[in-house]
Amino acid sequence: MDLLGFAVVLLLSLASSTSSCKDHEKSFFLQFLAGLSEDGGLAVSWQNDTDCCTWEGITCGTDATITEISLVSKGLEGHISPYLGNLTGLMRLNLSHNLLSGELPLEELVSSTSLVILDISFNHLSGALQEFSAQISETTIRPLQVLNISSNLFTAQFPTNTWKVMNNLVALNASNNSFTGQAPSSFCISAPSITELDLSFNRFGGSVPQDIGNCSMLRVLKGGHNNFHGALPDELFNASSLEYLSFPDNVLNGVLDDANIIKLRKLSILDLERNMFIGKIPNSIGQLKRLEELHLGHNNMYGELPLTLGNCTNLKILDLKINYLSGDLGKINFSSLSNLMIIDLLVNNFNGTIPESIYDCTNLIALRLSWNKFHGEFSQRMDRLRSLSFLSVGGNAFANIRNALHIFKSFRNLTVLSIEQNFMHEILPEDETIDGFESLQHLEIYGSSLSGKMPVWLSKLKNLEKLFLYDNRLTGTVPVWINKLNFLICLDISNNSFTGEILMTLIQMPMLKSEKTVANIDARVLILPTYMSSKKDLPALKDWKYEYRILRAEVNVARNGFTSVIPPEIGRLKALDMLDLSFNSFSGEIPQAICNLTNLEMLDLSSNNLMGAIPLELNKLHFLSAFNVSNNDLEGPIPTGGQFDTFDNSSFIGNPKLCGGMLSHHCNSAKAVHAPASTLSTDQFSDKVIFGVAFGLFFALGVLLDQIVLSKLRFLQF
Ligand SMILES: *[C@@H]1O[C@H](CO)[C@@H](O)[C@H](O)[C@H]1NC(C)=O
Ligand SMILES: *[C@@H]1O[C@H](CO)[C@@H](O)[C@H](O)[C@H]1NC(C)=O
Ligand SMILES: *[C@@H]1O[C@H](CO)[C@@H](O)[C@H](O)[C@H]1NC(C)=O
Ligand SMILES: *[C@@H]1O[C@H](CO)[C@@H](O)[C@H](O)[C@H]1NC(C)=O
Ligand SMILES: *[C@@H]1O[C@H](CO)[C@@H](O)[C@H](O)[C@H]1NC(C)=O
Ligand SMILES: *[C@@H]1O[C@H](CO)[C@@H](O)[C@H](O)[C@H]1NC(C)=O
Ligand SMILES: *[C@@H]1O[C@H](CO)[C@@H](O)[C@H](O)[C@H]1NC(C)=O
Ligand SMILES: *[C@@H]1O[C@H](CO)[C@@H](O)[C@H](O)[C@H]1NC(C)=O
Ligand SMILES: *[C@@H]1O[C@H](CO)[C@@H](O)[C@H](O)[C@H]1NC(C)=O
Ligand SMILES: *[C@@H]1O[C@H](CO)[C@@H](O)[C@H](O)[C@H]1NC(C)=O
Ligand SMILES: *[C@@H]1O[C@H](CO)[C@@H](O)[C@H](O)[C@H]1NC(C)=O
Ligand SMILES: *[C@@H]1O[C@H](CO)[C@@H](O)[C@H](O)[C@H]1NC(C)=O
Repeated sequence: MDLLGFAVVLLLSLASSTSSCKDHEKSFFLQFLAGLSEDGGLAVSWQNDTDCCTWEGITCGTDATITEISLVSKGLEGHISPYLGNLTGLMRLNLSHNLLSGELPLEELVSSTSLVILDISFNHLSGALQEFSAQISETTIRPLQVLNISSNLFTAQFPTNTWKVMNNLVALNASNNSFTGQAPSSFCISAPSITELDLSFNRFGGSVPQDIGNCSMLRVLKGGHNNFHGALPDELFNASSLEYLSFPDNVLNGVLDDANIIKLRKLSILDLERNMFIGKIPNSIGQLKRLEELHLGHNNMYGELPLTLGNCTNLKILDLKINYLSGDLGKINFSSLSNLMIIDLLVNNFNGTIPESIYDCTNLIALRLSWNKFHGEFSQRMDRLRSLSFLSVGGNAFANIRNALHIFKSFRNLTVLSIEQNFMHEILPEDETIDGFESLQHLEIYGSSLSGKMPVWLSKLKNLEKLFLYDNRLTGTVPVWINKLNFLICLDISNNSFTGEILMTLIQMPMLKSEKTVANIDARVLILPTYMSSKKDLPALKDWKYEYRILRAEVNVARNGFTSVIPPEIGRLKALDMLDLSFNSFSGEIPQAICNLTNLEMLDLSSNNLMGAIPLELNKLHFLSAFNVSNNDLEGPIPTGGQFDTFDNSSFIGNPKLCGGMLSHHCNSAKAVHAPASTLSTDQFSDKVIFGVAFGLFFALGVLLDQIVLSKLRFLQF
């Protein structure tokens, strides 16, 4: 062969192996591009005069048919062109994490008869999903296996016919949309190989479809955060491949039946939290050897724990909080549950002492036993729980606080310690032998009538953010080292017998001086979510609410014997959300600078010896939803405008020289000055308004329902 001949052969073979994409396919792309209002720079790569197999995001097969389009997080805006469905070799289409809007041309896209994977999750697609037209139904089998339409804005009922042609569906993720009506259920008949079905975070209602029980391959079923009613159908438990079954936050009821649970032997996660299930935890739970997470919190379940629970040796999370469960935990053998990392029994009726076998669970990072009926002392063996980061045992009848603190102090990773409402009438140890707690961020020892002084060992807790010592009988002064706790932002020492001056110390607290800090601290998520109750004593189940804000910038020194004037430097504590100085002996005037506390939601200065005028510019505190200056010796006009138009008489009574507002004592008109309300930056507003409103509502309800006065308003927090 001569050189020229060789060159021709080489050229020919090169040309055939790199044959470029077909013109008609290219035109479908250009149609797609034309449908975008923001193409994320694609037009630069997608030139009509180049081979589209080389274009960004496009992959071709050996014969130059386009097989894959992947344009993830490209900032694409506009709509999805139905012409993509004309690409006859396209197998994967991934457009997730863009800003695509309009309807999804599902019928056209899957009509290509080649598409196997379609992921358009995390876009702004809306409208209803198409019901496929009759002629294509059931005639052509579609190869589609994965359909991810999650995190869009789809609405309306789920189509029923559409699924009949998708016999190969393996995974359908429709979560985080606004679908309504009955959940789809025909999959298991039309697509027997379905293994993952995620319907969570929608508005599905009605009952959980019993046909799901026909899905013999189904491993993951998620239906949480919908409006499902009624009992879980018995048929559901025929889906014996289930590993992950979760329906939290619905209105499901009925009992968990022994004969049903036993069928799901492969179950690893069972999450039925926040429903209305009743009855006992079934004995057959012990047969679920692979169970790792059991979430039955926030239901109405009662009775004792089944002894067989000790057989679930792979259990990592046991979450039974806020139920009516009872009995002596000592009957359960926790020694065999050494994989446990989280035990949450908050608000139940368990009694007896803490079983010694729990101390064998050395992997525990969170133990919450608060608001039960436990008693006794903590055992020295507890020091084996070295990984504990969250320990909450409040609201029981534990004894010997000195012993308890000596055990807990050695938990080097402990960040949350709540031991309130125990140890009644004991003495709070104050000496430096309580050394340790180096990681502690939240400490709650309130409501225990403890006597003693402000403990010196607290001065070493350099990470402390929240300190609750209220409702005790502590005496003496509050030492100045409190303002060396650089992260302290939430301090409640109300209803004790502290004396002396405190405000000059508090105005030095670093965290309270800066505005941004609370949000930063809140962003750090605790291992367990915190709950609060609107009732102070014996809160009933319905009183417990999930608390979405972990920390408030709060100073509450009410009901002590503190003295001094309120220094103008109080205006520096710009972070403050709540300031309660009531029922002390503070004197002098309310400083003008208090109007600088623009975050304030609650200000209570009542029952002190304050005199002079109420600063009129307080009306520019837009989030102030609770205000009380009653029972002082204030004089002059009550500010008007802003939030002040919402405060009633009770905020001001007991000040004979005050006038205006709703008081019967009217000011002479020259005195009633309407101070200008300042404007509010939108940033600040969006940050705070939700809480402001929520707090205001809560406060109003609290007053209405409980007939409690402002100074008694108290959140129980865990
Ligand atoms: C792309 O090029 C082809 C042929 O070169 C032409 O027919 C077509 O109109 C062009 N399309 C666009 C959108 O410019
Ligand atoms: C694209 O496909 C649809 C059917 O889904 C068909 O009606 C249409 O004619 C096709 N368009 C082109 C340009 O091939
Ligand atoms: C789509 O792409 C994203 C980002 O690469 C990836 O996380 C996701 O798994 C892909 N979808 C499918 C169905 O493979
Ligand atoms: C969409 O869901 C599929 C199937 O569950 C999954 O493979 C894919 O990673 C998901 N996409 C994203 C962006 O998470
Ligand atoms: C479904 O998609 C969401 C994101 O939209 C994701 O968080 C979830 O894990 C997915 N479900 C499954 C079962 O993969
Ligand atoms: C739901 O979708 C929104 C918007 O894409 C996203 O920000 C959010 O994280 C998603 N939520 C869940 C639970 O996946
Ligand atoms: C679904 O399962 C039930 C039994 O649970 C059975 O009677 C029914 O025939 C099944 N349906 C189909 C279509 O397989
Ligand atoms: C499915 O469950 C129902 C009710 O629990 C039962 O009667 C039926 O026999 C089960 N079907 C199969 C195939 O297991
Ligand atoms: C399960 O627990 C019960 C009660 O503790 C016990 O009698 C039984 O032997 C355990 N079964 C297995 C298989 O471990
Ligand atoms: C613990 O509770 C059980 C069941 O409620 C009760 O029978 C038992 O008497 C209680 N024990 C103690 C010591 O209170
Ligand atoms: C404490 O926490 C650190 C960091 O999270 C971790 O590396 C360490 O193993 C933990 N210590 C114990 C005893 O669990
Ligand atoms: C209050 O704010 C005003 C204006 O920002 C400022 O001039 C004044 O010094 C502040 N007072 C205090 C005590 O921070």
